[in-house]
Amino acid sequence: MAEPILEVRDLVKHYPLTRGILFKKQIGAVRAVDGVSFALDPGETLGIVGESGCGKSTVAKLVVNLERPTSGVIRYKGEDITRLSGRALKAVRRNIQMVFQDPYTSLNPRMTVGDIIGEPYEIHPEVAPKGDRRRRVRELLDVVGLNPEYINRYPHQFSGGQRQRIGIARGLALRPEIIVADEPVSALDVSVQAQVINLMERLQDEFGLSYIFIAHDLSIVRHISDRVGVMYLGRLAEIGSDAEIYEHPTHPYTQALLSAVPLPDPTAREHRDRIILTGDVPSPANPPSGCRFRTRCWKARERCEVEVPELAVPEAFRGLRGPAAHPSACHFAEERQIVPAGGGGNGEGRDSRRETQ
Ligand SMILES: Nc1ncnc2c1ncn2[C@@H]1O[C@H](COP(=O)(O)OP(=O)(O)OP(=O)(O)O)[C@@H](O)[C@H]1O
Ligand code: SF4
Ligand SMILES: [Mg+2]
Repeated sequence: MAEPILEVRDLVKHYPLTRGILFKKQIGAVRAVDGVSFALDPGETLGIVGESGCGKSTVAKLVVNLERPTSGVIRYKGEDITRLSGRALKAVRRNIQMVFQDPYTSLNPRMTVGDIIGEPYEIHPEVAPKGDRRRRVRELLDVVGLNPEYINRYPHQFSGGQRQRIGIARGLALRPEIIVADEPVSALDVSVQAQVINLMERLQDEFGLSYIFIAHDLSIVRHISDRVGVMYLGRLAEIGSDAEIYEHPTHPYTQALLSAVPLPDPTAREHRDRIILTGDVPSPANPPSGCRFRTRCWKARERCEVEVPELAVPEAFRGLRGPAAHPSACHFAEERQIVPAGGGGNGEGRDSRRETQ
């Protein structure tokens, strides 16, 4: 098996909670990310899903080095990049780029599209000599399906979907190997979402990119992902291949999320198992002991209060083969089919994708 291009081990990010204005005193910490581990293979798409505030964007910022972790390790091609600085850090950063959530606010309204897409070359002039930058930007516009003649236009002259194409072009400018896309289609209309996702899939094949694709809509993630990780309150609840997570989920939280996915097929909708989650997500400044999901879990027992479930193949499935035997952080993991086979979301995984450009 190929070595992962990216490996994250026990990643932790705590933001200090302070009181006082002049003499700030730390009174606690927001445990935004609290022990996350996963690997990303070359050319793979790992989807990360979970409710608002569970730490998805924080994971993204840590991976692209916009934030430094409190502890844990991020390895890029086997090298720990969390301790790098200066030139070595800059070289790695070039290879791991981010595409942001909101194409309306992430593009500077006073800059032309050409300057926005070419901006990364100011920081990494070695990638494109000054005289060649406009040509490269035109090429990038073409690659993402925009007219190269638009190079002197401003962001407000574009639609939401076009702006996200501009954001993707900027992400590609330095020819990265990994793109971390933080909810890249959440702010777009449903019809445009499919086009942007199809574009990202095409670019992945063309440039051999590896993606971390963040969303809270499980159906969108399924369409593009090879594997999916489900986050809850700063930790991963379950991780597995597309079929393992959607057709053989074993963690109650994943099962609850799946039961809320919109299904286009009325028969599938009728036969779907409905789970209504009660209660709010607890504060990451004061997460529940033991299993973080226990305050909302219908299966919670005493053990869940005192013992943190590790993300591993659960005891009940150890030594077994088959799609239920994948990592799930639950003491009482059980298979429960929520969505009838073949009725999952708005796509049946990567191989069934359609090009609707
Ligand atoms: N700079 C910061 N200082 C303090 N707390 C922060 C900071 N950034 C994020 N948080 C907190 O960390 C937690 C995780 O935030 P994060 O943005 O990673 O969640 P998310 O899963 O991306 O949510 P959403 O779906 O709303 O984008 C939240 O409780 C958030 O309020
Ligand atoms: S460990 Fe317990 S509380 Fe947590 S998901 Fe499993 S059954 Fe529910
Ligand atoms: Mg976010």
